[in-house]
Amino acid sequence: MSDITISLGNNDTNTRQDATSDFISFWEKQAKNLSWFSSWDKTLDWNPPFAKWFVGGKINASYNTLDIHQKIKSDKPAILWEGENGESRILTYEDLWTRVQKLANALKSIGVQKGDRITIYLPMIPELPISMLACARIGATHSVVFSGFSATAIKDRIDDSKSKVVITADGGYRRGNVINLKEIIDEAIKDLDFVKNVIVVERTKTKLRLSSKDILWNDLIHDSYDLCIAEKLDSSHPLFILYTSGTTGKPKGVLHGTGGYLTHLYSTFKWAFDIKDSDVYFCTADIGWVTGHSYVVYGPLLHGATQVMYEGAPDFPDASRMWEIIQKYRITIFYTTPTALRMFMKFGDDLPNSFDLSSLRLLGSVGEPINPEVWKWYFKIIGKEKCPIIDTWWQTETGGMMISALPGLETIPLKPGSGTLPIPGIHISVVDEVGNELPPNTKGYLVIKNPWPGMLLTLWGDDQKYRDVYWSKYKNYYYSGDYALKDTDGYFWLLGRADDVLKVSGHRIGTAELESCIVSHHDVAESAACGIPDEIKGEVIIVFVVLKQNATTDTATLEKELIVKIRNDIGAIATPKQIYFVTRLPKTRSGKIMRRLLKAISSNETIGDVSTLEDDIAVSEIQSAFEELQKSIQKKP
Ligand code: WTA
Repeated sequence: MSDITISLGNNDTNTRQDATSDFISFWEKQAKNLSWFSSWDKTLDWNPPFAKWFVGGKINASYNTLDIHQKIKSDKPAILWEGENGESRILTYEDLWTRVQKLANALKSIGVQKGDRITIYLPMIPELPISMLACARIGATHSVVFSGFSATAIKDRIDDSKSKVVITADGGYRRGNVINLKEIIDEAIKDLDFVKNVIVVERTKTKLRLSSKDILWNDLIHDSYDLCIAEKLDSSHPLFILYTSGTTGKPKGVLHGTGGYLTHLYSTFKWAFDIKDSDVYFCTADIGWVTGHSYVVYGPLLHGATQVMYEGAPDFPDASRMWEIIQKYRITIFYTTPTALRMFMKFGDDLPNSFDLSSLRLLGSVGEPINPEVWKWYFKIIGKEKCPIIDTWWQTETGGMMISALPGLETIPLKPGSGTLPIPGIHISVVDEVGNELPPNTKGYLVIKNPWPGMLLTLWGDDQKYRDVYWSKYKNYYYSGDYALKDTDGYFWLLGRADDVLKVSGHRIGTAELESCIVSHHDVAESAACGIPDEIKGEVIIVFVVLKQNATTDTATLEKELIVKIRNDIGAIATPKQIYFVTRLPKTRSGKIMRRLLKAISSNETIGDVSTLEDDIAVSEIQSAFEELQKSIQKKP
């Protein structure tokens, strides 16, 4: 298939030109689209690797997403909420504004102050964005934890952020089942005395055991006043912490500020989605991940857009759920993941073809590389060859999109499988091991060469780790951890992670985190996790385990115990597809586990496929490690 050009009628060449001449004044101009209480003295304070945008400026995220819309679109629906069980709710911009102010006052009444952290552990219900915006209104920093995480994972996150208040629900629906979220929180906070209160939304009406710390949401806001003036916050005031997996054991608390982050989102949401007042936007991401923070909560609300928010699993009660929602709400812009698309594609064309999808005008993809054949299916079957597809590359750390086609700004040919060009004002390169720019069509590491407004402030409580993880491989470049290549047209092609981070169904999972969970089992001596390609999920997890000499449990029982442990310590998303028990792990002379060899073995590749990859070790060494590992797998103790 040759390149595809679909124009939405936008051909603004000035924006890119402006951005090339001076990225700092370019972003300064974009920041003026927001409402500031007072302007900044300095656009960028770059003290590498720490960036402060719009220094001296005062702003509030909740004011920019709610108050500014009240004069002209207070009646406009902000959220068209669709419950998993078919219930629905409509919240206008005024409804949202009122509820946010009530909760903000209620939070103040229980002692929450500017600078405090609040952990939010809620399913996809309107109370989730309301909670985030109430925090933002009073300058508390929210830390949203995905509602699929286990008690141990939440405990780590609450402990690290030292959140004084937790907001949760009695339960959440997932594929028709009720998950008892409140019980999970009770377990998570039982030794965390600094948590003063737990606010509980009644969603599933599950029977609750309330302690003296617990307050029901409805009781808390019942008498709360619905006027709460938004705090005038510094531009770099921490808006949120979002924990994400990396190459080190514990999840990292990615910290984002306010003014720069909002500028990045305002601009990318407008350019990428070509947002118009009449649009009905639907992003399928859970707010517990960064896509939900940036492109369910902040991006659409900054623009006063109407969006659908869906509570449950995309294939519940069946695989036509998304198409049904698109038809029901006349969705115009649809943003989802390659994993979801691969799953829908598996069910064939008849299902989507039996729904009226004619309202769609723009499609998006995020979170993992999209296979060209999936791209083409999306284009043809869902978009009926009339909708541009934006393949948006970015990360929790970047805050917003960094590479994407921008149909709201310009018309460029699309190439299935390529993210196309960097966002204006963002300088991206593909470099080799030592930082030299690579010629076109050569695989290398994707780096970002200049600070950008949505960039993370630091890692919560750990500036050194922030330096080490992102700014130590290359002195002056941000290291993304991704492989990429740039073609002769300057288009970027993302080629997966270059480090030990896995992407399973688009969720980020660190191998180190998984391995430390496994070795904490009393019978395990050592373990190594890797990802292998999967037709639907992109990648699935394979784990190799070496048992202690004195281990007594049989491997069938152990396998079950390890799976339970992983689910308890991390969550179901980290469940391995296969656990191999081996007598030893293949290591290089310097003691490094040969991960690519494990990967090759698990994917049934031949030794020839790996030897070229492991350039730091002799082929003979790989050969013998390969053979030994194969033998030891067959033996299975
Ligand atoms: C991957 C998700 C290819 C990439 C927004 C990145 C992608 C990681 C794409 C960040 C894309 C995200 N094409 N790969 N369009 N988008 N990735 O923090 O490996 O959950 O580094 O942010 O997802 O994952 P995160």
